[in-house]
Amino acid sequence: MQAGSMITKMGKFTISPSILSADFCNFAKAISQIEVSGAPWLHMDVMDGLFVPNLTFGSTLVKAIRKQTKLFLDVHLMIMQPSRYLQRFADAGADAITIHYEAETHTHKFLAEIRQLGLKAGIAVVPSTPVSALEDVLPFIDLALIMTVDPGFGGQKLIGQCLEKIRKLAKMRKEARLDFKISVDGGINEETAPDVKKAGADVLVIGSAFFNSSDQKKLINNLCT
Ligand code: DX5
Ligand code: ZN
Repeated sequence: MQAGSMITKMGKFTISPSILSADFCNFAKAISQIEVSGAPWLHMDVMDGLFVPNLTFGSTLVKAIRKQTKLFLDVHLMIMQPSRYLQRFADAGADAITIHYEAETHTHKFLAEIRQLGLKAGIAVVPSTPVSALEDVLPFIDLALIMTVDPGFGGQKLIGQCLEKIRKLAKMRKEARLDFKISVDGGINEETAPDVKKAGADVLVIGSAFFNSSDQKKLINNLCT
């Protein structure tokens, strides 16, 4: 069974605030900040200290957050062999699971498994992986996530060269007549967002710019239109 509609957006673009930049002593506050801001998604960066040089949290936190909110839980697995954990994150209440192209060999098989679990299936690429590598899995995804920083940490500067990858992927999608969403993750703020949107993004993941903002509602309103 497939999950319900993935996009519950207010504007043209869907904003997915990343709790990587939240106060880790107060996730309840972070959930409330996201809900009050009007953003429909909540992005969770799961890191294993191996695929990326940092450790964050696992399915236990997804489960705890699921109990507190109806926000769309957009889980980004930055871990090696994510297939080992799909069931666990599905049981915890994720709405979408994104795995990395670089972290798993049989991505086709595991993207299908994510959909079989009733969730939206996403595939991500780090800045050094060309989007052409995704060509053969595009018919099997709901979401393609382009990383615009080298993953591991929030607050980095967007790598400008990655914008071309968004354009290329949007072109590939059009040519193949597919309708997956393009999500962009890393270094997005009010200055960089216009170029990211223009390049073809549908979903903007935003960490530090969201949690550092003094008017999160205004920020989301500006970013989603
Ligand atoms: C980076 C993460 C991002 C991060 C974005 O490894 O995947 O989701 O939280 O944070 P900012 O918006 O601060 O670049
Ligand atoms: Zn992420």
